Amino acid sequence: KRDLINITDLTQEEVGEILDLADDMVAHPEKYYEECAHKKIATLFYEPSTRTRLSFESAMLELGGNVIGFASANSSSASKGESVSDTVKVIECYADIIAMRHPKEGAALVASNACSVPVINAGDGGHFHPTQTLTDLFTIRKEFGRIDNIRIGFCGDLKFGRTVHSLIEALLRFEGVEIVLISPDELKLPKYNKESMTEAGIKWTETTSLEDAIPDLDVLYMTRVQQERFFNEEDYIRLRDTYVLDRAKMKLAKEKMIVMHPLPRINEISVDVDRDPRAVYFKQVRNGKDVRKALIATLLRWKEEM
Ligand code: CP
Repeated sequence: KRDLINITDLTQEEVGEILDLADDMVAHPEKYYEECAHKKIATLFYEPSTRTRLSFESAMLELGGNVIGFASANSSSASKGESVSDTVKVIECYADIIAMRHPKEGAALVASNACSVPVINAGDGGHFHPTQTLTDLFTIRKEFGRIDNIRIGFCGDLKFGRTVHSLIEALLRFEGVEIVLISPDELKLPKYNKESMTEAGIKWTETTSLEDAIPDLDVLYMTRVQQERFFNEEDYIRLRDTYVLDRAKMKLAKEKMIVMHPLPRINEISVDVDRDPRAVYFKQVRNGKDVRKALIATLLRWKEEM
């Protein structure tokens, strides 16, 4: 069986095939109404989610399948101390595929090693969020027409933001991508991501100023300061509003720049930016469901072929 724990579990060719399948599913949804008939996905969410969990569930229902799962650790036997390994050994008796979110880095890998059904990492702590990455790649390709040769700025909490860590891993494999890191000193991108960019020969720069960076960007990827990963509330309060994208800052940007955000947002994008045609974060949400449909179908097809 194949799992998706890190985006690099997929070859570049496989990423392209999943995005192409998502395009076809959007164009011809009726072709896939029975794709997962009699199959079940288990959504095991030990950490809160709106988009990821409900898009997985919606995706499976649109493929003719069914959904089981839990939306918090408190409503499962994890609250009695059951381990992730034991839990997925139970779930594989009920479901054909698992999507799991967990606050601990590495939890999805533990799950994948413990069971015989495909496991999809729906976010593990501050580590990775590979299905958000597929969503983001799909959105950039749709909105911008290409992923190669873009200049993308990541702004906000680059230390704890798992969507940033995963998307950077994926962008290393595209041609001519330039990355601009925009964060306060306390929330800089981890060293291992910087080393990966340098090893891959990606051009990257770092700044604390969104105003300085925005005029040259093709894509601005805003992120929320991740309150749940802070040990100290005072630090969170001091840093949470470092960057607020508003209409004044949008005036500095290219006419064709796009603004992305994995959501949820707190204050980092002013709501009056939502009406700007360059703001694509709610389209990103819809794309997330389409891409997860393609991923579920692909992993189940691969399992059947084995
Ligand atoms: N983008 C994202 O992961 O959103 P949720 O936390 O609502 O799933």
